[in-house]
Amino acid sequence: MPEHEIIAADHDWWRTAVVYQIYPRSFADSDGDGIGDLAGIRSRLGHLADLGVDAVWLSPFYPSPLADGGYDITDHRAVDPRLGTVDDFVALTKEAHAHGIKVIIDIVPNHTSDRHPWFEAALAAGPGSAERMRYIFRDGAGPDGALPPADWQSHFGGSAWERVTEPDGTPGQWYCHLFAREQPDLNWDNPEIREYFLGTLRFWADLDVDGFRVDVAHSLAKDLSEPLRSQPDLDRNLPLDGSDPLYDRDEVHEIYRTWRVLFDSYDPPKMAVAETWYPTTSRTYLYARPSELGQVFDFSLLKAEWGRDQFRDVIRRSLHDHQAVGGGLTWVLSSHDVPRHPSRYALPPGTSPDEWLITDGVVPAVDPRTAHDRGRAATLMMLALPGSAYLYQGEELGLPEVADLAESALQDPVWERSGHTLKGRDGCRVPLPWTADGPSFGFGPAGAWLPQPEWFSGYSVQTQGADPDSTLTLYRQALLLRRALNADDMGVDWIETDDDQVLHFARRNGWHTIVNFSDRPCPLPPGRVILSSRRIDGTSLPGDTTVWISRA
Ligand code: NOJ
Repeated sequence: MPEHEIIAADHDWWRTAVVYQIYPRSFADSDGDGIGDLAGIRSRLGHLADLGVDAVWLSPFYPSPLADGGYDITDHRAVDPRLGTVDDFVALTKEAHAHGIKVIIDIVPNHTSDRHPWFEAALAAGPGSAERMRYIFRDGAGPDGALPPADWQSHFGGSAWERVTEPDGTPGQWYCHLFAREQPDLNWDNPEIREYFLGTLRFWADLDVDGFRVDVAHSLAKDLSEPLRSQPDLDRNLPLDGSDPLYDRDEVHEIYRTWRVLFDSYDPPKMAVAETWYPTTSRTYLYARPSELGQVFDFSLLKAEWGRDQFRDVIRRSLHDHQAVGGGLTWVLSSHDVPRHPSRYALPPGTSPDEWLITDGVVPAVDPRTAHDRGRAATLMMLALPGSAYLYQGEELGLPEVADLAESALQDPVWERSGHTLKGRDGCRVPLPWTADGPSFGFGPAGAWLPQPEWFSGYSVQTQGADPDSTLTLYRQALLLRRALNADDMGVDWIETDDDQVLHFARRNGWHTIVNFSDRPCPLPPGRVILSSRRIDGTSLPGDTTVWISRA
């Protein structure tokens, strides 16, 4: 093959990659403070290499008061001392590369921590100052400015505006925070912010990271003209003309075009993936344009309920929508923001996962067998789709959601901001079990920052490692086979089935995937079985099962 073709293929590694998300504080703790750290991750790279992932994405490891699990940052160019140092990060990246694993890091450009030196300076400097221009400060509405300047709502519940006390002690201006009040939004109309983030990307790119995951990528450009416009309903679909004042505005794409110029100044160019947590629309894939970030998370599969038609419809749409822009295609089933997928798929139909976790002390149980079978079936289906797949730490162990965390243990700001009506995201962030016993199931030499249930023992890496039927073994086999089978064809052929609960698609190389969404067996189509999410007897496909068949 001519050399330029080899280089081109390498540049595009992310288009078909399996990326493993690490939530650093919950992955592995090297020093016994109960919090996972960079040295812990480094010590477990062997697990990731055995698993067969192409890249890791590290959720934030920056200094943070942890008002939002590390997404509230006080210094974007440093490592939280509890997690290590920049030198530890460099060593981790180097060793990951030696294992053939790329490193993607999280960039959080929409907001900082309220303890960021910039925000502290803004509070001290008072109204009208250059320091306040880095954030979104406004006078309040109503007599005495006692009302929020607009009706914007925080994603975590309540108003997106918080009033400050001015340096002279009087009640003062309000600042915007689309997330927790400890996460003031930055003002992207200010050129200083744009320059700062370009410098931050360069800082990490120079340390050899391979790519960036961009947090809340669709919210940086806001319409801040006066009077501020209404944005009352976060649940509705965003308008398709970019007219929402806060989200998915056309101007946001200008920012990513400048980032692409920076990414392309490296050889190979850096990859990037946008996080845009709103219902997937024809505009979603615009972030994935080759002139911008290249990839965007498509969360439509993650949001779909277990069911043939639901899965087929979202897959069809994603395959179609991504083609229009020529960007990357992504699939996700689990992340640090949602209940783990095996548990979700075992909920009674129509139950929203967030509602399931609403607590008055009693969490309705889900059937562990159904969760196990459907979780594995969904994973095998996802891994057979063209494009890139994102895995979330612990899903290779088939971990269910820890749904019954005591209220006193909860740390997610969602819990407080929802007035204790939503439990939040801690149940998928419980530190991983590496061994069957030990103080924190091998997570570290001491305890863990969130309590681990006793049943974690049976899910540990140690317990599953040598078991041919374990979920860990299934993931290892699936990733190995996928590496051999996956090609850069970006579509699938849909095969008609007689059963309306059976999904069947094929890739061009004769790799067929059949998913039986029902709870009863169906006939197994012809071909050579190469992997299945449950044992099959050769003539029929059990319910809640996916099989890969080769007809090459
Ligand atoms: C999306 C992240 O995934 C989530 O964990 C975080 O709370 C928000 N962005 C705010 O940064």
